[in-house]
Amino acid sequence: MPDELINHLVEHGWARQAIFLGTDLTLALAAECRGLSDQKLLRIAKTGRVAKSDTHVQTQAKTEAQFRSDQISWLTAGQSLACDQYLLLMESLRQRLNRDLFLGLDDYESHFAFYAPGAFYAQHRDRFQDDDRRTISVVIYLNQDWQTEQGGALRLHLNESESLDIAPEASSMILFLSASMLHEVLPATRDRLSLAGWFRRR
Ligand code: OGA
Ligand code: MN
Repeated sequence: MPDELINHLVEHGWARQAIFLGTDLTLALAAECRGLSDQKLLRIAKTGRVAKSDTHVQTQAKTEAQFRSDQISWLTAGQSLACDQYLLLMESLRQRLNRDLFLGLDDYESHFAFYAPGAFYAQHRDRFQDDDRRTISVVIYLNQDWQTEQGGALRLHLNESESLDIAPEASSMILFLSASMLHEVLPATRDRLSLAGWFRRR
């Protein structure tokens, strides 16, 4: 992990590394995500936007579907060799961020995300209203030979007038500040696979 990446995160609130995962690990994780999808083990994602006390369940479900349409599976240590290798990499990233930026990150949570063609995630920030533990967001992409015309960009809204589109290319990683970075996932014409995760403070 180069120093420039950490510096860019501090200066701009986001950073991208074009090649973060090795090819073999990327392929293994993509195969695992696809396998979970084939076995119907992925679940409709929830947004956590509505406080737990909200009783308007019907309204909430409708809103969720209009807000995001990916499917996810949370990772558990030991579920596969590939996931353990990935979690080990994220553990060294956690230690690096703590050492360089004194962030006090003490936890990482992560899920596979599968966006079928047309699936999207509307504009949002990753920190929940009723839970401020999420500090740094991480997304790693698992899509070989992604073409820009296929859509599926992660759009970062850097400020009121500027946005940046990032293609979900295999092996690449994006980091951003969970509390402040407004972002969205644009629909694609093909399946879009990723691992999303959050370094959290207690
Ligand atoms: C998320 C998210 C971005 C992406 O899961 O919260 O914003 O590019 N994902 O998949
Ligand atoms: Mn997000």
